Amino acid sequence: MKFFVDTADIADIKALTEAGMVDGVTTNPSIIAKSGRKMAEVIAEICAITPGPVSAEVTATDFEGMLAEGKFLRDIAKNVCIKVPLTEAGLRACKAFTSEGTLVNVTLCFSPAQALLAAKAGASFVSPFVGRLDDIAQDGMKLIADIMTIYRNYPNLRTEVLVASIRHPIHLVEAAKLGAHVSTLPPSVIRQLYRHPLTDRGLEAFLADWKKTGQSIL
Ligand code: E4P
Repeated sequence: MKFFVDTADIADIKALTEAGMVDGVTTNPSIIAKSGRKMAEVIAEICAITPGPVSAEVTATDFEGMLAEGKFLRDIAKNVCIKVPLTEAGLRACKAFTSEGTLVNVTLCFSPAQALLAAKAGASFVSPFVGRLDDIAQDGMKLIADIMTIYRNYPNLRTEVLVASIRHPIHLVEAAKLGAHVSTLPPSVIRQLYRHPLTDRGLEAFLADWKKTGQSIL
């Protein structure tokens, strides 16, 4: 499974990339707003750090506006992936961009039918939001299971399932068990993945025993 990091925080992206944990980056208008920086500037900086796909989202809601914004974003760097919402105009823009070879991430997917439409529009990625479904007492992971079943029924569909709105490590593990292609994770959740109390306790005991030997390896 590929890991994308869902942030525009440059220090986090650098550190997690150096640790080999990042295959790509996702942003959205809220994440860019939180960074307090200009979209073009921050996307260019992220693209220079990671060679993987970097999702940059259009904010226009009409087809022509999405095309204009998408072209602007695409020209920032070779690895920009245009992110469009799962609307009629968004799917039309998706088709236009993917048919000329530009990566497209169709975002804000909340149903299996929507995911099927994204695939038919030739999306490179579809982003189902599991956490936001859980928030309204629906089963976010059931959506991933349904999409994976549908996509496997039609092996000619090339769209990768990019599990988004991940809130905790269990979301990631369940998505991996279902065979989802990519998960996008906030940096805090990636760091949670490292932690296990038995790892900490075991290391503490090993080091205490080692100290008793009075040796040093070097
Ligand atoms: C994905 O591309 C989105 O940016 C993100 O996963 C949304 O997550 P949230 O529901 O925690 O805002």
